[in-house]
Amino acid sequence: MPDAPAAIEHSGSQEKPLWILTTARMAYVFGVDAHGYLQHIYWGPKLLATTDYGDAQPFGSWGHERPAGISAEEFPAWGDLNFNEPCLKATYSDGVRNALLQYDSFEIDANGLDGEQARPSLAVHLRDPHYGLRATLHYRVVPECDIIERSAVLHNESDESIRVERIFSAAWHVPPRDGYRLKTLAGKWSGEFQVQEAIVPVGKQRIESRRGLTGFNASPWFALDANGSADEQQGEVWFGTLAHSGNWAFALERTIHGQVTLSGGVNDFDFEWLLKPGERFETPTFVGGYSGAGYGRASRLLHDYQRQHVLPRAQNGSGNGDAPALRPVLYNSWYVTGFDVTLENQMRAARRAAELGVELFVVDDGWFGRRNDDRAGLGDWHVNPEKFPRGLAPLIEGINELGMGFGLWVEPEMVNPDSDLYRAHPDWVYHFPNRPRSELRSQLVLNLAREDVQAFVLGFMDELLSENKIDFIKWDMNRPFSEPGWPDAPSGRERELWVRHVRGLYRVLGELRRRHPAVAFESCASGGGRIDLGIMPFVEQFWMSDNTDAFDDLFIQEGYSMAFTLAAKMAWVTDPLALNGRVLSLAYRFHSAMTGALGIGANLFHWTDAEMAEAAAFVERYKALRPTIQLGDFYRLRSPRHSPLAAQQFVHKDGHESVVFLFLHASTFGPYRARLQLQGLEPDAFYRVDNSEPLISGRALMRRGLDVALKGDFVSQMMHIVRADDSPIAPD
Ligand code: GLA
Repeated sequence: MPDAPAAIEHSGSQEKPLWILTTARMAYVFGVDAHGYLQHIYWGPKLLATTDYGDAQPFGSWGHERPAGISAEEFPAWGDLNFNEPCLKATYSDGVRNALLQYDSFEIDANGLDGEQARPSLAVHLRDPHYGLRATLHYRVVPECDIIERSAVLHNESDESIRVERIFSAAWHVPPRDGYRLKTLAGKWSGEFQVQEAIVPVGKQRIESRRGLTGFNASPWFALDANGSADEQQGEVWFGTLAHSGNWAFALERTIHGQVTLSGGVNDFDFEWLLKPGERFETPTFVGGYSGAGYGRASRLLHDYQRQHVLPRAQNGSGNGDAPALRPVLYNSWYVTGFDVTLENQMRAARRAAELGVELFVVDDGWFGRRNDDRAGLGDWHVNPEKFPRGLAPLIEGINELGMGFGLWVEPEMVNPDSDLYRAHPDWVYHFPNRPRSELRSQLVLNLAREDVQAFVLGFMDELLSENKIDFIKWDMNRPFSEPGWPDAPSGRERELWVRHVRGLYRVLGELRRRHPAVAFESCASGGGRIDLGIMPFVEQFWMSDNTDAFDDLFIQEGYSMAFTLAAKMAWVTDPLALNGRVLSLAYRFHSAMTGALGIGANLFHWTDAEMAEAAAFVERYKALRPTIQLGDFYRLRSPRHSPLAAQQFVHKDGHESVVFLFLHASTFGPYRARLQLQGLEPDAFYRVDNSEPLISGRALMRRGLDVALKGDFVSQMMHIVRADDSPIAPD
């Protein structure tokens, strides 16, 4: 990573300042135009001189546009002659629906710190010239990651209430070019994170979730490159991701004048926020970054950012204080025992898992209430006495004696109508009077916008964690919202539930982490339905998909890796799933699951002694390579979408080793041969590939390539590449 001198400078006059935000390799520039509006000026590679960036002149002029010119407003409000997608739409108490945001003042905090790292920040205040509405735009620079964090805060400084109908976090303007390609991630249950790409036409496009949670249907991440000119290793890529776990929306607009803007934040569909006098509304953070070296670097910048600045710091497990934690190898019997968990069958599975070197044993659904299938018991969070007659303690002690930590599944935001909780509090779920309450998986969503419901969830979770020696919580969320009614809401606040639920969730999670700092969390939502930067500060990892087919996972994982660090990706080695019915070798399943945090979810009693030994060897190997896989740099060498041979590479941050995973879908007409160009090595160092001779230089491995040949269907290979010496030496 380059040295990262970062700065927020300003130039121009007091009335019309211009701000230059720089990171290691990127500059982001905007300023105040002649009419007092904020205009975006530049986003791209750092240039030589301040004057290189230009000034806040609107981008040309044209009939039927603002007389001031065609605007790339930094934070447009819906008002006057602005017809582009706004970041703000508000109605004042006298019925005026025309918001104007004009520049007022700014503050720079050059000494902001994140741990020991400098993180300068800028606050720019905009005001409505008549009504007492202030919008403060916040910018924080993450120097080494070429990333800036943006958010906005609305302040009602008037004596009347203001109805906010849209308040996005940011508008991102990419430089005017001939055209752009957009990449996004779309998915479905068991088919998350499928990469979508299309040239952006003139017009508008919306990518969003209206389901109450992030959702697998779309992920709040985007990337744009000029007309598809970038690939994994080269070309300019502008990217961003929103830190929000509820309804979110991106509006992408390409105007006929050549301006391409992606704005986004909390979804304004069915949204309204009542801003009373003296109140403020803070948006989620929208992170944006720039890569001058293709999609590969764009992902690595996001991965670094997440590991360094977003994920919780190590408090437990194998982390050391301030370092990012290493995720333990876990076992979970969900695909084997389902809801039928008992002290006996879990202990039996635990003894078998311990033989493999598993470090964390997780009990999934079924341990509580009258939970024998998915139709009853959710909400009754007391240990089922038939399955665990003496509570969880004997199980936890047994698991600890085997040398493993103990983890537990919960789904706190949900309730089955057939539960004591629902019978006592039927009003605690989202619902409308005179309308049925649509069930999915026989469950309803608890209204976490309500403070009493938050207190209930915090209360039972706190008790569970206080009374049991629990190291890990898998926090699940298995259905979208429907009938989003909140009949008891304070007047005028009914539609705030979309945001208040998410804030309630973060509040509860934050408080649980504060009270139980040694407990690690996993975010699960029927697989990867709630993976985003909003929940990331509260969880160590994500359950990527209920689909554990190791071949399908190559595709899901590729999309996931565009936006999220593999350190936080949990995938299990399981038995063949009914989903595809595909039977894959143990090695293939391990290799696929080893490309992140590793779990096992197979019936270990069906594994022969030879398979147990093979699996134990994989676990041991994985533990040795884990710092490189979880904390190293990740390279997508070959995509399963484009090549019969999928290849991924991890390089340790100190450069001493690299791991390559190869997956051949099927060979035809003989072995599949490739000369695979590796990445991220030191050109002048020499490397040993799988202990073989002769040594090969990094330059040769990256330019000439590494010869590989695989044969068969669904075969895989792991290659270990170790730097021969710290100093460049020629081999004998
Ligand atoms: C969801 C999760 C699974 C499992 C079940 C339990 O589907 O994604 O991993 O925990 O719930 O009911």
